[in-house]
Amino acid sequence: MKKQILAPSILNADFLHLSSEIDIAEKGGAEFLHLDVIDGVFAPSISFGANIIYSVRSYTNLFLDVHLMIENPSQYIADFVRAGSDSITIHAEGATHLHRLIHQIKEYGIKAGVALNPASPISLIEPILSDIDMVLLMTVNPGFGGQPFIKEVLSKITRLSQLKSSKAYSFAIEVDGGITPQEALWCSQRGANIFVVGSYIYYKETETAKLQAMENIKKSLETGGLK
Ligand code: DX5
Ligand code: ZN
Repeated sequence: MKKQILAPSILNADFLHLSSEIDIAEKGGAEFLHLDVIDGVFAPSISFGANIIYSVRSYTNLFLDVHLMIENPSQYIADFVRAGSDSITIHAEGATHLHRLIHQIKEYGIKAGVALNPASPISLIEPILSDIDMVLLMTVNPGFGGQPFIKEVLSKITRLSQLKSSKAYSFAIEVDGGITPQEALWCSQRGANIFVVGSYIYYKETETAKLQAMENIKKSLETGGLK
C-alpha cells in the first residue's frame, strides 16, 4: 500500500475566515494545504501572493504546497520561499529554463514540483523526472476552482506511473482540479498519490459538511484498496 495525501486547496475558501477554513483542513486529517497563486497572465483570474502564504505559515504546521501559475516564476521563487513554502510547483509551460528553475528551488532546501496543463504531454518533462519531488497533473485548465474534471488526463497518469516504475523514480504524482471521491479513486487506481481538492470541500456551507466531504474522499480511496 502506498501513502495517499489529501491536499485541500483554499482557492475557493472563505478568505474572511481563512483561519477557520485551515482548522477544518487540519481537523479533517489533511497533511498538505494547497495554495494556488494565479497572476491573471499565465492563467485567467488573480488569486493571492506571498503575503497570504506568509500569514498562513504563521498559523499552521500543515505542509504548504504552493502551486505557481504565473509568468516569469524565477523572479518570485525567493519571495515564496521566504513566505514559508514547503514545496513550490512551477509549470513546465511557463518556464524556459525548467532545469535551472527546479534546482533554484531545491537549493533553498524545499521540495520542487513541476506541473503540466491538460494539453501538455508527459514527454515535455521526461528529461527532468529524476530531478523533481513531484509532478502535478492538472485535471482542469488552470485558473479557477469548480471546473469539471477532464477525463482524458487519466491516460497521462498511467503513462507517468509506468515511467516512474520502469526507471524507479521517486517523485509523487499529484492531481489537481475537479476532484470528488469518484475522480480521486480513478486517479489513485492509476498511481496518483496526492489529491488536491478545492470546491468539493469549500463550496459546502457548514463545517460538518466540509469535514464530511474530506471523509468521503478518504473513504473512496480506501475502497480502492489504498490507504
Ligand atoms: C486551478 C487550481 C486548482 C483548483 C482546485 O487553477 O490549480 O487547485 O483550485 O479546485 P477544484 O477542486 O474546485 O477544481
Ligand atoms: Zn492548484
